[in-house]
Amino acid sequence: METKKHALILGVANKFSIAYAICKKLLTQNYSLHITVLNDKVKEKALRLFDEKELSNITIHTCNLNNNEELAELFDHINSKEIILDNLVHSIAFAPQTAFSNPIEAVSKDDFLTTMETSCFSFNTVCNTFKPILKQGSSIITLTYLGSQRAINGYDIMGIAKAALEANTRYLAHSLGKHGIRVNAISAGAIKTAASSGIPGIRDMIKDTQEKCAIKTTLNTADVANAASLFLHTDANAITGQIIYVDNGASTI
Ligand SMILES: NC(=O)c1ccc[n+]([C@@H]2O[C@H](COP(=O)([O-])OP(=O)(O)OC[C@H]3O[C@@H](n4cnc5c(N)ncnc54)[C@H](O)[C@@H]3O)[C@@H](O)[C@H]2O)c1
Repeated sequence: METKKHALILGVANKFSIAYAICKKLLTQNYSLHITVLNDKVKEKALRLFDEKELSNITIHTCNLNNNEELAELFDHINSKEIILDNLVHSIAFAPQTAFSNPIEAVSKDDFLTTMETSCFSFNTVCNTFKPILKQGSSIITLTYLGSQRAINGYDIMGIAKAALEANTRYLAHSLGKHGIRVNAISAGAIKTAASSGIPGIRDMIKDTQEKCAIKTTLNTADVANAASLFLHTDANAITGQIIYVDNGASTI
């Protein structure tokens, strides 16, 4: 029998989360998962998202990625089980609502830095924290959006954070490549989730993804999860530092 793979999936909030769809996909592929949620309240709900068989292959942790102690505890817990990770998925973003209520030039320093810390810098901290237990040949992905490349109405501060996250993906790929670790970003088309609901203009962004696309179907989180499983797989061994669009071709129109 094929040996079990191990993945750490950061960022399950509810059944609409992209991270949840990735978990469901990997659970069909002989994976054992460590999943993080933000707090105990979300953990209770997250436990109800999986059936008994799935739960036998899942450990759910609470972890605020901006809290060094919580991150260290998460590492210690996984490391104490002598787990070597095949994959890490960073599906995390946050911006305070006040960051969207001002024009971009008037966003406060606090809101700017909070957005960057959670949506970009957390990627560096998790890569650095888990580097010692990531397998040679392992693969990491993060999630981004087209608003990094173009000024998309309403995406504002998050577009800046995603531009930095994409540059981060290339530099992390360069650095972690020395350890045989690949790093890519999936640029997903707009989908309604908890995080995206906080973005003014999300309705138009979703409409754009649905209408200005080459493949005329409604993009959903399972589509993103399917692509994620491709880039997490060892068959993608020569792909690193890339921003891969999973948007039914919307970004090309
Ligand atoms: N939904 C879309 O349209 C879309 C499109 C492209 C990219 N993305 C990206 O996909 C990723 C996942 O978002 P989603 O749409 O699935 O929404 P989501 O709300 O389900 O996921 C965001 C996750 O980030 C977590 N998070 C926020 N701050 C955190 C912190 N300090 N510590 C730990 N976790 C924290 C939340 O708890 C949540 O689980 C994000 O990076 C988002 O920007 C989403």
